[in-house]
Amino acid sequence: MSAELLDGKKIAGEIRADVAADVASFVADGGAKPCLAAVLVGEDPASQVYVRNKNRACEKAGIEGRTHRLDASTSQGELIDLVGQLNDDATVNGILVQLPLPKDGNGGAGFDEREVLDTVDPLKDVDAFSPVNVGLLMQGRPRFLPCTPHGIVQLLHRTGHSVAGKNVVVVGRSDIVGKPMAMMLAQKDGSCGRDVANATVTLAHSRTADLGAVCRTADCLIAAVGIPQMIKADMIKPGAIVVDVGINRVGSKLVGDVDFEAAKEVAGAITPVPGGVGPLTIAMLLHNTLMAAKLQR
Ligand SMILES: NC(=O)c1ccc[n+]([C@@H]2O[C@H](COP(=O)([O-])OP(=O)(O)OC[C@H]3O[C@@H](n4cnc5c(N)ncnc54)[C@H](OP(=O)(O)O)[C@@H]3O)[C@@H](O)[C@H]2O)c1
Repeated sequence: MSAELLDGKKIAGEIRADVAADVASFVADGGAKPCLAAVLVGEDPASQVYVRNKNRACEKAGIEGRTHRLDASTSQGELIDLVGQLNDDATVNGILVQLPLPKDGNGGAGFDEREVLDTVDPLKDVDAFSPVNVGLLMQGRPRFLPCTPHGIVQLLHRTGHSVAGKNVVVVGRSDIVGKPMAMMLAQKDGSCGRDVANATVTLAHSRTADLGAVCRTADCLIAAVGIPQMIKADMIKPGAIVVDVGINRVGSKLVGDVDFEAAKEVAGAITPVPGGVGPLTIAMLLHNTLMAAKLQR
């Protein structure tokens, strides 16, 4: 293998240890134990695993993880009411509504996800999905940063990879990953300073013409698409940093959006799947929960 392996799991471990130490001093200083409340609607097995993993990570960091389980038959109104109660509950610092909400929920009509997320108090919005927090990020004065792109910024920073003045191509324009990722790397001063900001960013998507040619301009290529191994080695500029956000189940295996085996022979640095971006997302969620507790104190 020629590329440097960007070990997200190791860096996430470092961040989690930092958060745990910070939580301990926050509590020693008279702060209440931070609390993250997760709302889980329905029985989706992947969502159940995510919430269980988040609770475990909370516990290890000295954060209380609570889970509110609702039946898929719950109505939009009942779900909104629960979020409202968590907003008003002073013992809850962070609120996380596990997505996706079941398609057959709300009496079969499906949930209005946007309305649910918009109900979360912006000061408890540890996922950074509320319009207030998205707006603050757009304006370059963020409060909470969305966990997955923030994890990628931390990964680049902590492995010493600057993107300042370089071409970054982000493939995928979701509100959760692609869009905020592009915005964060284009800022003048990013959360880790100017080295992991000031990039010239291209945001590619399913309507991008000649995606391969666009990707080959990237000094740093970030794939957040959700199609197994769609980024091939010939779409990568030799020596580029490749960050693979994708988590796709193929048979019994988890694979990314990048054809890792071939890509690692061309890239300068690359994240694996699993063990790359995934663990960082949880680490940044813990970071945001502690930050919420500090803001609310
Ligand atoms: N590691 C983590 O912690 C983490 C966190 C979140 C998500 N993920 C994973 O990351 C992947 C993306 O998640 P997401 O929530 O951002 O997905 P999403 O909401 O489904 O968005 C996918 C994006 O990819 C674009 N796209 C689809 N087909 C394409 C193609 N052929 N060429 C170029 N672009 C294409 C779509 O374009 P249009 O907008 O034009 O439709 C869309 O913008 C998934 O595998 C997900 O499981 C991982």
